[in-house]
Amino acid sequence: MATFNLTINGKKHTVDVSPQMPLLWVLRDVIGLTGTKFGCGIAQCGACTVHIGNAAVRSCVYPVSSVGTEKVITIEGLSANGDHPVQKAWEEIDVPQCGYCQSGQIMAAAALLKSNPHPTDEEINEAMTNICRCATYTRIKKAIKQVGAKV
Ligand code: FES
Ligand code: FES
Repeated sequence: MATFNLTINGKKHTVDVSPQMPLLWVLRDVIGLTGTKFGCGIAQCGACTVHIGNAAVRSCVYPVSSVGTEKVITIEGLSANGDHPVQKAWEEIDVPQCGYCQSGQIMAAAALLKSNPHPTDEEINEAMTNICRCATYTRIKKAIKQVGAKV
C-alpha cells in the first residue's frame, strides 16, 4: 500500500492503495465515481476512458502510481451541468442506446476535439477506437462533426 494525492475533477483526494491498482478501480471503488465504466479490463473497449492532463487514457490499465501530479477528469467533471459541447451534441443527436459505453465515448471525443476541433472522418476513425456494442458509431461521428461545425 502507498499514499497517493490525486486531483480529480478539481478536488483533492488522498488514497491509500496498491501502486499497481488501476486508476479505474481507484475512481470507482475507492472514491465512488462510477460514471467511468468497466468493460474489458485490457485496454480494448474504451469504456474506462478518462482524461489525464489533456490526453484520453484507458484507466483500466493505468496504474494509480503513474498519475503523478497530472489532473484527472472523469465524465462527472467534464462540465458543471452536463453542458460541455460534446455532451450537448450527444443529447441533441440522441447518440446513446444502452448508454454503457457512452461516458468513455464522450471523454474520447472531448479529448479529440480539444486537440483537433475540425477532425476529418479519417481522423475521427483513427481517434475513436472505443467499442459500442449497440453500434452507435454513425451518430457518434455525426455528433463530433456537429461540435466541430459550431466552433
Ligand atoms: S475497460 Fe478499459 S478499455 Fe475496456
Ligand atoms: S450505447 Fe450500448 S454499448 Fe454503446
